[in-house]
Amino acid sequence: MELKRVKKIYKTPYGDIRALDGVDLTIPKGSFMLIRGPNGSGKSTLLNMIGCIDKPSLGEIKIKDRPIGNVGDDELSSIRNKMMGYVFQGENVIPHMTALQNLILPGIIKGVDKTTLEKRGMEVLREIRLEDRARIKGTHLSGGEKQRLAMGRALFNHPEILIVDEPTAFLDQKNASLILELLARANEGGATVICTSHNDDEMGDVNIWLKEGRIAEVRSK
Ligand SMILES: Nc1ncnc2c1ncn2[C@@H]1O[C@H](COP(=O)(O)OP(=O)(O)OP(=O)(O)O)[C@@H](O)[C@H]1O
Ligand SMILES: [Mg+2]
Repeated sequence: MELKRVKKIYKTPYGDIRALDGVDLTIPKGSFMLIRGPNGSGKSTLLNMIGCIDKPSLGEIKIKDRPIGNVGDDELSSIRNKMMGYVFQGENVIPHMTALQNLILPGIIKGVDKTTLEKRGMEVLREIRLEDRARIKGTHLSGGEKQRLAMGRALFNHPEILIVDEPTAFLDQKNASLILELLARANEGGATVICTSHNDDEMGDVNIWLKEGRIAEVRSK
């Protein structure tokens, strides 16, 4: 994936906010990229561009050499569904559905066979160590458990690109390690992983620092 001179300007009643101010970035297939920077530096906005959730105000984004600027919304969402797994910052789960139902819901909507979905669902629940919570409703899960469930939802379809916004923010040490292990495993399995973090450990192949919507530093291993 390639970003060229990407700018994102949010129009607000108090004036324009320059969330991204000319970002040039190449994300090689199979890489593990970690994005850091202070609150408000543009990390989530950048992930939204990479994840095709939102379009830049200026600049260009290419996926597999194809510019996506003129791609329509339907096709963009199909690219997202086929290629990407996304975990939003502080993402929540559906409260009245069980952990398992939360996981398989996207597949149910697509009309995939329920037995197949439940089999994969239980596999994912084991990966995120929530197998004993399969029948428990979202509303009864702890914050950290919900965070792991959101991660499980992103991993469900073995995405080519995994985009995760602050995956360990509210987790204890043990569960944070589990999430990092899952990200590393997905990466070893061939997925491109892009995530933001406030932790100091430089676990990515590429570590980038954002400051006021610009890339201030890039460090590659
Ligand atoms: N939907 C929006 N509308 C208007 N302004 C926004 C919107 N989303 C983000 N911003 C602004 O853009 C800037 C960058 O926000 P962003 O969420 O990308 O930062 P961040 O680096 O992810 O911060 P944090 O570490 O707090 O998650 C901030 O100044 C924020 O106020
Ligand atoms: Mg953010």
